[in-house]
Parts: sequence; C-alpha cells; structure tokens
Amino acid sequence: MTGNIYTIAIDGPAGAGKSTVARELARRLGIFYLDTGAMYRALTLKALRNGVNLEDEQALVELARQTQINLGNHTDGIKVILDGIDVSESIRSLDVTNKTFYIARVPGVRKIMVQWQREIGKRQAIVIEGRDIGTVVFPQASYKFYLDASLQERSRRRILELQEKGIEVNQQSLRAELKDRDNKDRTRKVGPLCIAPDAITIDTTHLTIAETVFVIMRHLQPVHRIA
Ligand code: DC
Repeated sequence: MTGNIYTIAIDGPAGAGKSTVARELARRLGIFYLDTGAMYRALTLKALRNGVNLEDEQALVELARQTQINLGNHTDGIKVILDGIDVSESIRSLDVTNKTFYIARVPGVRKIMVQWQREIGKRQAIVIEGRDIGTVVFPQASYKFYLDASLQERSRRRILELQEKGIEVNQQSLRAELKDRDNKDRTRKVGPLCIAPDAITIDTTHLTIAETVFVIMRHLQPVHRIA
C-alpha cells in the first residue's frame, strides 16, 4: 500500500456525503476522483435517449459494449463525457436518478463497468466512490471507508441540494424515494450495497464535509497524506 498508486474506496448509501467528500479528499491529496455512479447514470441516459427497453438485459449489455464514458476532474466539478458529448448536467435529472437501478441491476453491465473502473485505478492513485467499490471493484483497496448517515439527514441534504438548483420537492416523497433507492441498492443480486468487513465506517450525520475529510485523512499513512 505504499507507493504512488494506491486506492481509496468509499461506499455508502445516497446522501451520505460520498461525492463531496471523495472529491474534496482527492483534491487535497492531488489524485484522481472517480465517481462510479456517474458511469451508471450516463449509461441510463443513453438508454433513455435511444429508447432502449430498460427491462431488456441483453440490449442493455449490448448498449454498454458500444458506449464510451470518460470522466474528467475539473476545478468546478467533474465532467462526464458520453460518446464524446458532455452530459455532466443531464445525468443528474430526477428521471435518470430514478431509473438508474434498471441499469445497475444487470450483471453483464456491472461486469463492464467494473472493468472500466479497474482500468482507471490501475494507472493512477484514485479516490473511487460508489456502492460496490470495497467489496467488488477493489477488494484489495489500500483504504476502505463506508460513509453513512441517518435517513432524515440524508433527505435533508438532498432537499438542500435540489433547492440550490431551484427545484422544490415534497419532503415526504423525496424521503420515500431515497428509501426505495437504498432498498434497491442493498437487495440487488450483483454488487449490492454492503459494508466490506475491513471497511472503516464513518457516521456523517453530525459531521461537516471538512470534518469527514479530516477523519479519513487521519487514517491514511503519512506517505499518502501529502500531495
Ligand atoms: O452515487 P449515485 O447516486 O450517483 O449513483 C447512481 C445510482 O447508480 C445509484 O442508485 C446506484 C448505482 N450505483 C451502483 O449500482 N454502483 C456503483 N458503484 C455506483 C452507483
């Protein structure tokens, strides 16, 4: 785990703070940030745009085979390029959010995604964030963290995030949607959300982003703490 190529795996449910924490951590360490959820979202967007039947697993695997997704780190956020087109904004729509589970539950699609993610992690040090990172993608990761928070706090964060974009939502239905998404993530047959036995769990309910990053940094070896 010493050396320049090391992997920091971060898993957890939606709204636990993974993306913001992982991005900030990568920035502080001067290493690449890989948002695996963005990959599943991008493929979902393509399936929706191409009118692919989301129940047709074979068609979805075929679609994944014919797709190129590139993720880039920029100072103002990550850029998601789907077959050469910037989809960074459109993959965050409510429709894509609620339909990604169709894509994420297909074993053949996950296999392709995992391959892509491993390729990226082989080349460089990364902070990689998702649901199955410490368990499936990088079971040998140098560090594994599982971020969690109460459902109430996760819904509150999601509502704030949407309000910042000018989107008003019904609190009850958002909470129900989040719960439903968690449930789907935890119960799918392949790559379900679960805590790797050797992961360090951090409850972020009462922590700020900076505090969570600080807690994670404390677990890193000194050689990895310096950019
Ligand atoms: O982290 P996110 O909300 O952007 O992820 C979008 C969806 O993708 C989420 O509902 C679960 C799925 N996902 C997954 O199945 N495996 C991952 N490694 C990352 C995300």
